[in-house]
This record gives sequence, C-alpha cells and structure tokens, in this order.
Amino acid sequence: MRSLIDIGDFTVDEINELIATANDIIAHPQAYSEKCKGKKLASLFFEPSTRTRLSFEAAMLELGGSVIGFSEAASSSAAKGESVADTARTVSCYADIIAMRHPKEGAPYVASLNATIPVINAGDGGHNHPTQTLADLLTIYREKGGFENLTVGFCGDLKFGRTVHSLINALSRYSGIKVVLISPDELKLPSYVKKDVLAKNGIPYEQTGDLEGAMPTLDILYMTRVQRERFFNEEDYLRLKDSYILDMKKLKTAKPDLSIMHPLPRVNEISTEVDSDPRACYFKQVLYGKYMRMALILKLLSEAGRL
Ligand code: NCD
Repeated sequence: MRSLIDIGDFTVDEINELIATANDIIAHPQAYSEKCKGKKLASLFFEPSTRTRLSFEAAMLELGGSVIGFSEAASSSAAKGESVADTARTVSCYADIIAMRHPKEGAPYVASLNATIPVINAGDGGHNHPTQTLADLLTIYREKGGFENLTVGFCGDLKFGRTVHSLINALSRYSGIKVVLISPDELKLPSYVKKDVLAKNGIPYEQTGDLEGAMPTLDILYMTRVQRERFFNEEDYLRLKDSYILDMKKLKTAKPDLSIMHPLPRVNEISTEVDSDPRACYFKQVLYGKYMRMALILKLLSEAGRL
C-alpha cells in the first residue's frame, strides 16, 4: 500500500506529476468536483492544526468526497491508551485514506505499516512534514518557474522545524541549489539532515546567525516560527523566540524578485508590514497547499485501486 510518510517516497517525476495535476485543478476545478464521490478521508490530528487539517478536509470536499476524524488526541481512544497501530487498523475499516498528524516522530509511519489504506504524514513531531513541502514546491514552481539554480535561505528554528527538514530533502534533488541556514546556535539544522541530505547530495550550504548578511544572496527566504511546543523549558523559548523578525528595513538589500515564504502560523517572525509586499508568498502557500493535497489524494487513492 503506497503512503506518503517522507517526501523522498516520491520521485522527482512523481512530484512533477502532482504539480501538473494541481495546476490543472486550479485551471479546471469543475472537472475534479466528483472524482472522489463516495470516498472518505479520515483526518486524525493528535496535535493542533489550522491549515493542514482544514486544507485536507477542504481538498476532499472539493473532490466530492467526505471527511471523518478528530482534531485532538483527547477526543480519541488515544486518551484511553490505544496504540497508533490499533487506531490505524480501526480507521481502515471506515475510510479510504488517512491524513495523520502526531507529536511523536514516526507515528504516521507506524500507522502506515498497520493500515490497509494509504496514510499521509501530516506532520510528525520535529521530524517531517511532506505535504507542507508539496505546498512549498508548487509555490516555488509558480513563483520561479522551476527548482534549479536557486539560493534558498532557511531562517528561524531549523532544529525542530519539520517543514524545513522536508523542504531541504525535496530541494536537494535539483541541480544548482544552494542553501543558507540562518539560526541561533541552539536551533541549528540537525546534523542528520546536514549529513544524510545536504552532504550526501553535494548541496553547498553555509550556516550563519546573520539574516541581514545573507539577504542579498537569496532567491527564496523561508522564515519559520520557533517551535515552542518542542522546547524542554519555557525560559529557552522566551530567550530565542524573537531571534529574527523580518521587516521592511531588513528587506532593503533583498533581491527585487525574492520570494518570502513561511509555512505559517506566524508568531512575531514576519512583521505584518511585509504582508503587502509583492514578494510575500505565504498566503499563496496556504491556497496552493489545498490544490497539492487534492492532487495527492487522487494519486494515492488511484494507486490503491480505490478510484
Ligand atoms: C507547520 C507545522 O505544523 O509544522 N505548520 C503547518 O503545517 N503549516 C509550521 C509550524 O507549526 O510552525
């Protein structure tokens, strides 16, 4: 059974196909409005979410399907001690596809080993977030026309930021990519991502604490929130939370065609004055996420023989 747990589960060709489908959905939404008639998405969210959960649900509804699920662990049998494996087996009896978010790294993978329907990782702890990456890739494709020869700055919480890990993984497969890792010392990109992804693919990268110094070189600036819920103590969070605040002053030396991205939610790291700058792409990312999730649901249901 094909699932999406890690963005590396899909080849570059498959990602291009998803982008093509998403672009076609944007152009002809009516043609897709009944494709999933009679099919059910189970949205199993053991952690808070606004965009990911609602965009999955909107995606299934716009495909003519329906949605069941829960939006917090407390309202599921996880609160009684049920394992992820048993939950996955159970939900396989009721739905055609699962989108699961969980605070534990690897939980959606365990679900995929036990489910009899496709499982989509909608974010697992500080590990991966492959469907945010699909949204990010469609955004980059539509803003830049492709993925080659881009210098991409990642700024903020690169340690716990799962969206960063997955997007670096995806971009490392294209040629001419350069990565600038901008973070406080305590929130640097984990060494497994540097070693197994960047170094392994020969992607040149630089680590710095200086956002303004890096700014003029960047084609894309991917800002992130400091991930409060993954900190061991509140003091460290309070000390680090405002490490970077992007405002118009800091953008003075940026390229005129910089794309400013953020997976959202934003806390303080992008000043609202930036929202009206044409280089701000983060609300486009939100919308593109829904179309990529529509394309993904179609692909996985069709490969599972359920369409
Ligand atoms: C991200 C996440 O959940 O990892 N949000 C999202 O899905 N768009 C980013 C975050 O929470 O900071």
